Formats: sequence, structure tokens, C-alpha cells
Amino acid sequence: MAKGKAIRPMIVVLMARALNIHSNRAGDLLPGQRAIAMISEMIHTASLVHDDVIDGSDKRRGKRTINEVWGERKAILAGDFILSAASMALARIGNNTVVKVLSQVIEDLVRGEFMQLGSKENENERFKHYLEKTFKKTASLIANSCKAVSILVNSDPEVHEIAYQYGKNVGIAFQLVDDVLDFTSGASQLGKPTAADLKLGLATGPVLFACQQFPELHAMIMRRFSSNGDVDRAWQYVLQSDGVQQTNYLAQRYGQEAIRQISMLRPSPERDALIRLTEMVLTRDK
Ligand SMILES: *[C@@H]1O[C@H](CO)[C@@H](O)[C@H](O)[C@H]1NC(C)=O
Repeated sequence: MAKGKAIRPMIVVLMARALNIHSNRAGDLLPGQRAIAMISEMIHTASLVHDDVIDGSDKRRGKRTINEVWGERKAILAGDFILSAASMALARIGNNTVVKVLSQVIEDLVRGEFMQLGSKENENERFKHYLEKTFKKTASLIANSCKAVSILVNSDPEVHEIAYQYGKNVGIAFQLVDDVLDFTSGASQLGKPTAADLKLGLATGPVLFACQQFPELHAMIMRRFSSNGDVDRAWQYVLQSDGVQQTNYLAQRYGQEAIRQISMLRPSPERDALIRLTEMVLTRDK
């Protein structure tokens, strides 16, 4: 498997240290917090293995996927196996609240995947549906992992909420930027070809904003870009619209909210690293 950015464990570890310092302790991670960073990356990895089956992808970051090498049936079992190992590690932490918070992530991932499979929502509900799907598929993992590490060190629900809101907002910003890059970054940079989402039949932020300017997109969205030439035509409409700029602007707003939340913690190098990391998420170009 190809190496990713490991951005999730990085956020969880920085958050744990920032919260420990905020709670008048040394920054050093508690064993349970270190386990949570590992578990969140395992849940993420399992979801990628299953996503590749659902999307029928043969490559991820330039490497062959598990379904390509072993076939779909074994890829599904491999994902399940990673989830079972994550569940055992979660139980070993021995804190029921943490089990509940991280189990919510797995439920959200499944519900988010179901939301992505169906597109019967009408035009008004489409954007709300997209943001909810984005929360469930991407942000819930970061938000709830941040909340889980806060539970282990601090009993104040307001601190749990700061951790959760930071993770939620940075997670949504991250995915919005990802959806922009699907239109703007050249092939190979993201390890997937440009407009991969359109080819999968998915209408993300740039298309949904573009549809407000070019109602012609509506029919294409409804048939999931399945007619001949739909992907190219939709792509042209998006580039002619300011869908990319508007999605970027929305990402900036989520990013600013993430920074506002984390700024409520006591100053520490780790808190400031999370602020810089948020800025990097917003300006990354690959
Ligand atoms: C979880 O851990 C926190 C911090 O040690 C503790 O206050 C809380 O009571 C624990 N909850 C459960 C259900 O074990």
C-alpha cells in the first residue's frame, strides 16, 4: 500500500498533546490517546479498502488496490479484518465513552457511503445532502477521534466540544479542498486522474455551485454523468462557472471556524501546529 500523508494520526496526536497541556499536564500522550491515533488510522484504512471495492478502483496513489490484487471478496474481508483489529484495540482502552464515540465513526462511514450511492434528493436538498455526506464520510472520523482523546484527559464537556468542533471543521475543509483539487490538480498529482468524482457519477461542491449558474447541469447530475460526453461537458461547465472559487471560499470558512475553536485552548506549540496545519490544509495544491 502506498504511503499517504498520515494527516489523521498527526491531527489526533497534536490534539492530544494540546489538550494535555490545556489540562495542566505534561504534553506526553497517555497510552489510550496513542491507541486512539492508531485506531483512527485503522478505521480510515479499512474504509479505503472498502471504498475501492465500491468504486471498482484498480489504483490508489499509483499502487494496485487490494481488490485488484486479491479480488473483491477478499478485499471486503481484509477491510473487515482491519475493523475487527481496531475494535479489539478500542476495547483494550477500557473506556466505554471512548468506545461509544469511536463506534459512531463506523456508523457514520457506512451511512455516508449509502448517501453517496443514492442521488434522488431534489435540487434544494442536494447541497445539504453533500455537506452531510462529507461530514459522515470524512469529518466524523477526525471529529470523534479528537473528542475521544479529550475524554481521556479532561472531564469538561466544553473541552470535548472544542476538540470535536475543531476536528469536524478541519475535516470538512479538508474534503472541500479535495473536491476542488479533483478539478484543478493535474493528473497523477493526487494519485488519481482529474475529474475522478465525475467519472464515478458524483456531484461535489464545484458541480453543485456550477449548477446554480448552468441549470443544464441538473439533468446530468440526476443521471450521474452516465450519458456519452456528460463528464466532459460537466467539466467544461464547472470551469466556466465560479464553482471552484465558491467551494474554495466555503472551505476557508470551515477552516477559519476550526482555527477559532482550537484557539480557545491554552497556547502551546501543539495548538499552534494545529493552526498551521489548518492553514496548510486550506492552501495545499496536491
Ligand atoms: C473514561 O475516562 C475518563 C478519564 O479517565 C473518566 O473520567 C470516565 O469516567 C471514563 N468513562 C468510562 C465510562 O469508563
